[in-house]
Amino acid sequence: MNMVPSSRAVAVHIAVFVCLLSISNFINGLQSDIDCLRAIKDTLEDPFGYVYPTWNFSDHYERFICTFKGIDCWHPDENRVLNIRLSYKVLKGEFPRGIENCSALTGLDLSGNMLYGDIPNNISNIIPVVTTLDLCSNNFSGEIPKSLANCTYLNALRLDNNQLTGQIPAELGLLLRIQISNVAGNHLTGPVPNFGNASTSIPPNSYANNAGLCGGPLPACPGPPRKTHNGDSRILSYIKRTIM
Ligand SMILES: *[C@@H]1O[C@H](CO)[C@@H](O)[C@H](O)[C@H]1NC(C)=O
Ligand SMILES: *[C@@H]1O[C@H](CO)[C@@H](O)[C@H](O)[C@H]1NC(C)=O
Ligand SMILES: *[C@@H]1O[C@H](CO)[C@@H](O)[C@H](O)[C@H]1NC(C)=O
Ligand SMILES: *[C@@H]1O[C@H](CO)[C@@H](O)[C@H](O)[C@H]1NC(C)=O
Ligand SMILES: *[C@@H]1O[C@H](CO)[C@@H](O)[C@H](O)[C@H]1NC(C)=O
Ligand SMILES: *[C@@H]1O[C@H](CO)[C@@H](O)[C@H](O)[C@H]1NC(C)=O
Repeated sequence: MNMVPSSRAVAVHIAVFVCLLSISNFINGLQSDIDCLRAIKDTLEDPFGYVYPTWNFSDHYERFICTFKGIDCWHPDENRVLNIRLSYKVLKGEFPRGIENCSALTGLDLSGNMLYGDIPNNISNIIPVVTTLDLCSNNFSGEIPKSLANCTYLNALRLDNNQLTGQIPAELGLLLRIQISNVAGNHLTGPVPNFGNASTSIPPNSYANNAGLCGGPLPACPGPPRKTHNGDSRILSYIKRTIM
């Protein structure tokens, strides 16, 4: 018996193997972005059916997710999500962390929905290359995560009209490309970030309707509390403010 396969059969086997390998790479390349949108669908309710009727995951033809409502792709022939634009769709739920699997996402607009809970602490790991993040007019609570400062491509950040509390992280001043930053209509306190040269493009009304923001285009923040003998600097500064 001849156990040595003919060279022709070997060549066919290799060709089939290479072909399967490239198909599987191709499918895996698409798979993470598909998983991302599936995760969004699992996380956010669409009670009025404004979005998901067009999100049919049984259609496995080429670039099928690029036809979904609110989804823009990088290239017409590739399921790779560029932007997610789902504003004012009455979507309800927490921030969809599955977005981390849309790894090339540059724009996320979830404004005007009914999203609640925290903005994830590690948001810069979830959407590392976004240039536009719009979460305005939702019901997000908790603090603005410091890690937003690591979204270094960010040039528009809208968090206005939520329930955010605490201080705005000073680290946001590290966002060198920022042109729009709006946090109006929250419960924020303390100094606004120093955006350097970009500050001139961020008007006071970007900070309006909060619990007590100061500095930047707003009235200056009170000076640092001074230590006194009895340590009660608040009373001293109150007296100073009252007298002067
Ligand atoms: C989704 O696509 C599949 C296959 O094309 C089709 O059979 C099915 O009816 C579609 N579902 C909806 C809800 O449109
Ligand atoms: C991202 O995709 C991987 C692989 O499909 C999955 O295991 C993981 O749970 C996804 N991440 C999120 C946050 O859904
Ligand atoms: C973000 O943090 C959560 C836990 O808080 C973790 O499960 C998730 O894997 C993190 N995501 C990334 C992209 O690092
Ligand atoms: C928004 O969140 C607050 C608490 O953070 C809650 O009291 C309020 O009912 C929520 N509003 C909506 C419209 O979900
Ligand atoms: C931001 O990135 C720097 C450098 O990679 C890292 O040391 C830091 O922990 C990150 N900060 C946050 C809040 O993720
Ligand atoms: C800010 O503006 C000044 C004057 O226009 C310029 O000299 C400086 O380099 C700018 N700084 C940055 C960080 O762009």
